[in-house]
Amino acid sequence: MSHSAYEYVSGGAGAGVTLQENRVAYDRIRLAPRVLIDVSRIDTETTLFGRQYPFPILLAPTGYHKLAHPEGETETVEGANYAEATLVAATFSNHTIEQMSKVAKRPLWFQIYVQTDRDFTKSLIDRALSAGCEAICVTVDVPVNGPRDRELRAGFALPPGVQRANLASLGSMIAGAGHRPSGRNIYSAVHGPDATWKDIEWLRSIVPAKLLLKGILHPADAQVARETGCDGVIISNHGGRSLDTVPATIDVLRGIRERVQGKMPLLVDGGIRRGIDVFKALALGADAVLIGRPYLYGLAVAGRAGVARVVEILRTELEMTMGLAGCTNLSQISPDFLWH
Ligand SMILES: Cc1cc2nc3c(=O)[nH]c(=O)nc-3n(C[C@H](O)[C@H](O)[C@H](O)COP(=O)(O)O)c2cc1C
Repeated sequence: MSHSAYEYVSGGAGAGVTLQENRVAYDRIRLAPRVLIDVSRIDTETTLFGRQYPFPILLAPTGYHKLAHPEGETETVEGANYAEATLVAATFSNHTIEQMSKVAKRPLWFQIYVQTDRDFTKSLIDRALSAGCEAICVTVDVPVNGPRDRELRAGFALPPGVQRANLASLGSMIAGAGHRPSGRNIYSAVHGPDATWKDIEWLRSIVPAKLLLKGILHPADAQVARETGCDGVIISNHGGRSLDTVPATIDVLRGIRERVQGKMPLLVDGGIRRGIDVFKALALGADAVLIGRPYLYGLAVAGRAGVARVVEILRTELEMTMGLAGCTNLSQISPDFLWH
């Protein structure tokens, strides 16, 4: 990746306090393994929204894969195919959702923002569902743009030709518009800063597929999401890229779990870098996790093989952790394996 693209991908909001916290919080958690348990068969299979997944790790929506690889998202999808992983396709991709779905061997999920233009938001969802996407994830944690120091210092701008392919019909002013607003403008050209729970009610009424909210941190919001009919939430601080100094996602998971009482699947992302982190997230009540930057780095280093290898490392390390902690399937992973 170019230096400025790397700063865009690896950097975070503000001074990067939350970005660092997402990682440090995992390392603070200590494990409490049990011994003399037969671990000669370890199973990481799980069921999420009625579908079997061979392991509880998904690829989070991230924009602009051409920054990491000339083939962009279709290369990522090939890597996900090989790894048996499910990709949440981002609205801000350099290939359209139709192009990505054509390559995908397992159904994609699709991420959207509530766009300023609600008719366009609906048309994007309709396109994703016609292309076979199984779930719609509405990202709710970026109503306005926050500062990002590293990106700013590196002078990051979308390179020529790196366009938001799904937005092509809105014209090149929007599809290729500067990645971030400049000067005193805090608003994005496309995110609707006026989005409220009314929009989620509306989305619930028009989305026949699974509907998830991405970017939930507060237990009260998780509860409203459930009451509004959402099928699940992704506990996320956007990988430390939106509001700086919010807590690590792993630290808010327990409170949300207590509030929703197992009535809705909880996914979590942010700072997951090893199989041990996946184990800790599951022990604290997550049903599955997502990774963002790790697979983008894999994509940059070795294209589809890199994406697949990153997933393989995490998956293998999860099995190793389960074996060493004394668990043979995911349902056994509980807070009992955390050292209090
Ligand atoms: C380069 C980059 C672009 C991203 N773009 C989006 C996006 O378009 N929509 C979205 O909901 N989240 C986006 N995210 C956030 C990810 O979905 C995810 O929440 C985050 O990367 C997880 O943290 P991790 O990178 O530490 O694994 C992006 C993250 C990165 C690193």
